[in-house]
Amino acid sequence: MRQWMKTEGFVFPNTLFHFTDVFWDLLEEEIDDVVDHLSIPLENLVQIRQVVPNGRGLDFHNVCQLGYGLVPQQNRRGFIFWRKKQKKYFKRLIQRYLLKFNLQVSGIDSTVYFRRTMRKILVTGGAGFIGSHTVTELIHAGFTPIIIDNFSNTDERILDGLKHILGQLPVLYREDCTDAAIMENIFQKEKPEAVIHFAAFKAVGESVEQPLKYYRNNLSSLILLLELMKKYQVRDLVFSSSCTVYGQPDQLPVTEKTPQKEATSPYGYTKQVCERIIQDFVQSEPNFRAVLLRYFNPIGAHHSGQIGELPFGVPGNLVPYITQTGAGLREKLTIHGNDYDTVDGTCIRDFIHVTDLAKAHVKSLEWLSGQASVCEVFNLGQGIGNTVLEVVQAFEKVSGKKLPYSIGPRRAGDVEKVWADVTKSKTMLNWKTELTLEQALDDAWRWQQHIGKN
Ligand SMILES: NC(=O)c1ccc[n+]([C@@H]2O[C@H](COP(=O)([O-])OP(=O)(O)OC[C@H]3O[C@@H](n4cnc5c(N)ncnc54)[C@H](O)[C@@H]3O)[C@@H](O)[C@H]2O)c1
Repeated sequence: MRQWMKTEGFVFPNTLFHFTDVFWDLLEEEIDDVVDHLSIPLENLVQIRQVVPNGRGLDFHNVCQLGYGLVPQQNRRGFIFWRKKQKKYFKRLIQRYLLKFNLQVSGIDSTVYFRRTMRKILVTGGAGFIGSHTVTELIHAGFTPIIIDNFSNTDERILDGLKHILGQLPVLYREDCTDAAIMENIFQKEKPEAVIHFAAFKAVGESVEQPLKYYRNNLSSLILLLELMKKYQVRDLVFSSSCTVYGQPDQLPVTEKTPQKEATSPYGYTKQVCERIIQDFVQSEPNFRAVLLRYFNPIGAHHSGQIGELPFGVPGNLVPYITQTGAGLREKLTIHGNDYDTVDGTCIRDFIHVTDLAKAHVKSLEWLSGQASVCEVFNLGQGIGNTVLEVVQAFEKVSGKKLPYSIGPRRAGDVEKVWADVTKSKTMLNWKTELTLEQALDDAWRWQQHIGKN
């Protein structure tokens, strides 16, 4: 749970301080976030008043050595920062210290609130597409992510983007999460309080060609994690599952109770088996709590355009293929079949902005912390379907480019249409999507232009 704490001068006598206008500018972005939290009891808020009226500076080194509040130190370093008003540098400095000491700061008017970041979250695959967006949302919500990624399907561009967005990189282990000794070391050293498990191979076609690669990575990483969670009593797990577990459902929209069909690929089967493993584990260990998130079709990128989907080789997913075609890296898009039973004959999917998806992970952690032993499944989608042609048209609208495409034959194994019923996520997790298909394509296009430049 996020917790905001309140302090005033008399509660923590050393936490009085003064901030200049530069600092107030920095806080503007955070104001909405604070307002959101004012519904919680005031005694949980840290409130620091602007009490030092003489305009002198702060020494953030000393501030953070204390690790609790912001203490005015009228020494040379602090003074220089304020005199020069090096806003960018100063912002980075603050972010670095806040991250290091698990503090977050927000403000309203002349009052500043800060909170201690409450929980360390181990994020396997945290440098990947969905993982990196979730890392930014975790930090924004006051958690401390610890990333483990072996970079088998990502690269430095995501780290550069994270650094740009966050001011500095979260703790990162470039390790393989199927390595028992390394993982045990990380558990011992970091003492995480929850795990979000993204790390997996995810290419459906490749999984048909190399099933063992998929079974080894996707299953053994999960089993090892659960063993370590049991050993170190890390109670909470959020697991990345997929709507592939439903196959072509008989009824739409798909609810969490919709019966699963036989998996059409080894990849899909790993998700079904992983879900079952987690359910059995929680059943046998009543101390543990898990959320299984069935993603529909994550698309888009961070609004900054600094992180996004990074396909290696020919993209297997629609949107990276579209943006690469838009950027002239591919000649044209081939749409697989236009004779399906849909409004324009092309397949229907439920596309969800990756930022909305990332936020659902934060909601899941918060929800879990209020539960007894539980293993709950949630659909994550927009709750509406769009055809492939509608996606193409939306891309043309946001990019102002005409996308060359042709219609090819149907692709074996493609489901005709699928979209989610998200009532359960909305009501239980208190989560809903906020971003549209067009916003997702706009952000994906911004990301494409960014990596096109690099
Ligand atoms: N993107 C989608 O369309 C989609 C849909 C449904 C479910 N999912 C699931 O969501 C999760 C994240 O997907 P994504 O799209 O971000 O994929 P991604 O490939 O971008 O991210 C996965 C990350 O895990 C890392 N990884 C893989 N195996 C590892 C290992 N053994 N040790 C350490 N790191 C490892 C990769 O380097 C990569 O950075 C996966 O479990 C995937 O199956 C994705």
